Formats: sequence, C-alpha cells, structure tokens
Amino acid sequence: MKASIMVLPGDGIGPEVIGKSVEVLQKVASKYGHEFTFNEAIMGGIAIDMYGDPLPDETLRLGEQSDAILLGAVGGPKWDVPGGPRPELGLLKMRKHFDLFANLRPVKVYKSLINNTPLRPELLEGVDMLFIRELTGGIYFGERREQGDSDSAYDTEIYSVAEVERVANVAFRAAQGRRNRLTSVDKFNILASSRLWRKAVIELHDDYADVELEHLLVDACTMHLLTRPASFDVVVASNMFGDILTDEASVMSGSLGMAPSASLGSGKFGLYEPIHGTAPDIAGQGKANPTGTILSAAMLLRYSLGLENEAQAIEKAVEKVLDSGARTADLVPRGSEYQSTNEFAQAIINEI
Ligand code: IPM
Ligand code: MN
Repeated sequence: MKASIMVLPGDGIGPEVIGKSVEVLQKVASKYGHEFTFNEAIMGGIAIDMYGDPLPDETLRLGEQSDAILLGAVGGPKWDVPGGPRPELGLLKMRKHFDLFANLRPVKVYKSLINNTPLRPELLEGVDMLFIRELTGGIYFGERREQGDSDSAYDTEIYSVAEVERVANVAFRAAQGRRNRLTSVDKFNILASSRLWRKAVIELHDDYADVELEHLLVDACTMHLLTRPASFDVVVASNMFGDILTDEASVMSGSLGMAPSASLGSGKFGLYEPIHGTAPDIAGQGKANPTGTILSAAMLLRYSLGLENEAQAIEKAVEKVLDSGARTADLVPRGSEYQSTNEFAQAIINEI
C-alpha cells in the first residue's frame, strides 16, 4: 500500500530516535512491498528557534495531507523562558487540531528485562495493560491564568459528558478485545469534574455489560499499580491523571524509553510518539533508547494503516533483540557496556 507519513523529529533526543524509526519503517516497506513517503516538518523548540512558533501553519497543513504523524519529542531547558512560547504548546495544539482525543499507551513486560524493572519479578508475571488517556480536554485545555503581576494563578479541570463518553467508548471497546476488564480513574471524592466523569462512565457501562468495570481514585490507583499490576487490563483516565499514571506504569517494561503511544481521533489518522521526553542531558551521545519510538511506528502501522502483520513484525524484532542481550544505555548499570542508539536500532532492522 501507499502511505504518506509526516515526521516530526522535534528536540533533544527526538531526531536520533526518529531517524532510526524511519529506517525501521523503510525496512518494513521494502520487505512487505509498501510505498511509504516520509515528509519531515518542524515542531517544538526547533520551530520556536526558526519561526518563533512551536507549531508553524506549514506543519499543520502538511499533517492534514498525511495519513499519520510520527513524532520524536519536544521541549527542553533552552525554552524555559518566563512568558516565552513553550515547545509543548505545539504538541497540545497539534493534538487539539486533529481532535486526537484518545491516547493509547500499552504497557508490556519483557521477560529479558524483568530485572530492569523496579518491581519484584513475581509481581510482574502476567502484566499487560493498555492505558487510554483522554488527550484533548481536562486541565490541559481548561481556562488558565498565569501569575503575571498578580499573586495567584489557576488552571481549570473541565469535562463534558460527551468528552468522557467518547474516550470511555474507546476504552470499553478495547477491553472487549482484550480481557474484558476496565478500570476508570478519577478523584471522585474531591473533584466535581471527576463526579461527572464517573457518572458518565457508569451510564455508558450499560452498553458494555460484558465488561467488568472498576473505579479507582487516582491516589489509590498509583498504589494498586505497584501492588497488583497484573490485575489491570484497560485503564481509562483524564488527561492529567493519564499523563502521570503512564510514566509510573511505563517502567514496568524496563525503562521509560521502551514505551510507545498512539493518539487517535474518530478516524484512522493518528499521531504516534514515545512517552519519554527530549532527555537533553544525553542528546547526541548515542545513549537514547529508540525502542519507544520504534514501537510507536509499529502502532502507526496497526492503527492508521491497518498493517497488523507488519506491526507485529516490528514488535517481535524488538523482543528478539532484547532476548539476544542487546541493551541501550538506559538498560544497563552505570559504567557498563551498552549498544548505541544506532547499533540497537540496526539490530532491530536486521531482525525484520
Ligand atoms: C506526554 C508529555 C506531554 C504531556 C508534554 C510534553 C506536553 O509529557 O506526552 O506525556 O504532558 O502530554
Ligand atoms: Mn507525560
């Protein structure tokens, strides 16, 4: 098949991990007879440097003409300028512009990385979860006031029933395709927006009676993730709760650098990016783990292009390379030998 993919390297380690993921997709294309076109564009800090705008119009237009977007990471201390434009705003605008309201973040445990995780191996037996984070609403997009000259500032957590329903629909359906369990996370005892969230999820449950639904307060959820991670199947949470919980859960796969994500709307179009940030401290040193981005490329094949076999080919290759003992810098103790970003990615490419 033919597909056009917009590539946004972004900042920090973004360009390194993106370059390798494009090579992985090129290998898939040549092996399976597809024709992928890659259009590179700019977003984030680099876009601020070049145009004073973290998301130039040209990038949006190019995105509109694409079947999917593959993104590295955006941000960095260089753009922590009080009152200045923030790179992260480009990402938020992009998610909103394409109405990518459901962010899928799978957490998988790799047998060969079990000793890299901070939990005891016996707790990790059978861990396989899918987080679905609401991505275009909540406190990320509610009314906000910066401190400025005033001595206060605020952010607003706001959800409509329709916003909760559409992301919960995605979560219930995902559960039906998995182990039929859904955990909905909120802060029902304190927040009005959480009471609306829980009520909307309960009402929607009538349409998915076969799914076992559990509600957890977010504070309890952080704890249950550590004490009984294997009991979770699909977890649905608001934008901010989902952001926080997925950083916590991602280390169960060995490192934050392993975790991929897919941001989807109501159609096939999607934005794919690793969960990790730009890691400016290690940028350009070959220390970045490209796996999160490479697995995001696999999700792109699965969700935007419908290429399930090809997606699995990448996922299996990653597993084989890990089983062979290859490790990136984040997966070894300080001072030990490791494979560079390029070497590790090349090993994956060779396995496909
Ligand atoms: C993520 C990141 C982003 C978020 C930042 C970079 C805006 O932390 O994708 O999890 O908070 O959504
Ligand atoms: Mn995050």
